[in-house]
Amino acid sequence: MENLISLVNKIQRACTVLGDHGEASALPTLWDSLPAIAVVGGQSSGKSSVLESVVGKDFLPRGSGIVTRRPLVLQLHKTDEGSREYAEFLHLPRKRFTDFAAVRKEIQDETDRETGRTKQISSVPIHLSIYSPNVVNLTLIDLPGLTKVAVEGQPDSIVQDIENMVHSYIEKPNCIILAISPANQDLATSDAIKISREVDPTGERTLGVLTKIDLMDKGTDAVDILEGRAYRLKFPWIGVVNRSQADINKNVDMIAARRREREYFANTPEYKHLAHRMGSEHLAKMLSKHLETVIKSKIPGIQSLISKTIAELEAELSRLGKPVAADAGGKLYAIMEICRSFDQILKEHLDGVRPGGDKIY
Ligand code: GDP
Ligand code: NA
Ligand code: MG
Repeated sequence: MENLISLVNKIQRACTVLGDHGEASALPTLWDSLPAIAVVGGQSSGKSSVLESVVGKDFLPRGSGIVTRRPLVLQLHKTDEGSREYAEFLHLPRKRFTDFAAVRKEIQDETDRETGRTKQISSVPIHLSIYSPNVVNLTLIDLPGLTKVAVEGQPDSIVQDIENMVHSYIEKPNCIILAISPANQDLATSDAIKISREVDPTGERTLGVLTKIDLMDKGTDAVDILEGRAYRLKFPWIGVVNRSQADINKNVDMIAARRREREYFANTPEYKHLAHRMGSEHLAKMLSKHLETVIKSKIPGIQSLISKTIAELEAELSRLGKPVAADAGGKLYAIMEICRSFDQILKEHLDGVRPGGDKIY
């Protein structure tokens, strides 16, 4: 099954390299048919923190106020045991980052390059890949937080702009939505629930994550939400405890944070009975499992899209005729070659799935 996710990651990366960011280009429909996971919620609800703990690495800018100002498309690639971990940006090809603090700085710098050092946002995504033996193969998208009012230095349109941007990612039926709601605010006001319900009313592809459980008022708890009585989702709610701002300032590391999170759920009387399905590690597992199911159901569709793309490219090439302009022709050939090799790989995967219909990878 791991292979299947890795395959889809490769296809997505190839689309990205070919300059296809889901906008008009040679393979838009192909990109659209592949699953990814997007993190949505209000500003400072803990989106970037949740992504970091799913990845198990400290590398994202976090903090109060509007920190994430461009979409970050993050591809995790699981590598062989013992191999060295590194990160690579699409806008800096061949530069390998092994220092994750430098990755965080580059995200900030690249955000500023597009928007200036303002509180403005941009819908142009930053593409980052992480190669590590300690991750599962996933594509994750960190998004700017939904907000209710423009602050100093932001145009009045920002509230709607952010909403439109988030919409454009999560409205795709292949997008798995990680809907982040902070436990210290009323669930009825949750931006994450509101927007995910708009695009996924039945909750088929929405995972509800409750953050900041440690910050709830004394005498209150999140049991009603976590047990699905306050707001029912198709998948069970997952509660997490991320690092606080004080922890971030003190450089509390991921391992210590996870241990504390585990202890929190295991030792708090209200949550003890739920501890086995709470926390960041459980969330990462659930995500991976859900993604596998989705990918498996999508393979035939992806395959027919690729066949269609090959046919279209062949038609385009013959239309251009023999003396093809080196540039246009060359690029089309390259794309077609990539499509052909994916087609081959997919056929092999399908052969593995078809006979009994349930081959275990
Ligand atoms: P984002 O704006 O949604 O991406 O939120 P961030 O991940 O940047 O977090 C915003 C602030 O909330 C940071 O200061 C985090 O340390 C803090 N925070 C996030 N999740 C939790 C949590 O579960 N518990 C506590 N105590 N603080 C959290
Ligand atoms: Na924030
Ligand atoms: Mg953020």
